[in-house]
Amino acid sequence: MNIDVFTLFPRWFDWFLEQRHVRNALERGHELETVDIRATTPLTAGQVDDTPYGGGAGMVIRVDVVESALRARYGADPLELRRHRRVIALAPGGRQFDETLASELANEKEITLLCGRYEGFDERVNEYLASDVVSIGPYVLTGGELPAMVMCDAVLRKLPGALGHEDSALEESFSAALEGAPEYPHYTRPADWHGYLVPDVLTSGDHGKVREWRLEQSRRRMGQA
Ligand SMILES: C[S@@+](CC[C@H](N)C(=O)[O-])C[C@H]1O[C@@H](n2cnc3c(N)ncnc32)[C@H](O)[C@@H]1O
Repeated sequence: MNIDVFTLFPRWFDWFLEQRHVRNALERGHELETVDIRATTPLTAGQVDDTPYGGGAGMVIRVDVVESALRARYGADPLELRRHRRVIALAPGGRQFDETLASELANEKEITLLCGRYEGFDERVNEYLASDVVSIGPYVLTGGELPAMVMCDAVLRKLPGALGHEDSALEESFSAALEGAPEYPHYTRPADWHGYLVPDVLTSGDHGKVREWRLEQSRRRMGQA
């Protein structure tokens, strides 16, 4: 998989790229690179934004600046790019990112994430350059960098070899193995902590009963039991 993150602040990803599961994925041939939107701006003095038509506070990232960054990176016509590559613009009002979308993206070969700043992108970025507009939740962050990292984290951990323990991504919250429900509770030693005990079934050694109990707990968390 190749993920390109277009951002005005590439340094934000320095830390993220050093994290174990990200490095694991990269060592297995996957790619995660940042592209500095400002580096290819067609405007003078590194300008990337402009005042909004109709007035109002804040600045808007220009569509021609994003177009130029996409063209410099991929060569092809940026208006055609989304036909063969997921080009995802990040915006608070977009489609909510969830486990289903993370799994869908984990099967893509090529993904571009566009991180906004200020008031966000000129709407024509969302309409004509992006294939998707995605939000990580109904709240407003300063920029698209953290949302991009959230999405990369959720997607990369699904790739074979990214996590140390291969099974850990199979049976967890919202997975098919748990019927889409949140994961059941986990316990570890000590079995007795200030009188708060681990449920008996987990120390019974009866794997069938443990499985049943876990599914029931998941369903309960989903409000189905
Ligand atoms: C300050 S926000 C813009 C908010 C925009 N004016 C609004 O009210 O919806 C700047 C950028 O941060 C990113 N961003 C902020 N919150 C986000 C969220 N919840 N999900 C995805 N991206 C977000 C987007 O890329 C956005 O263009």
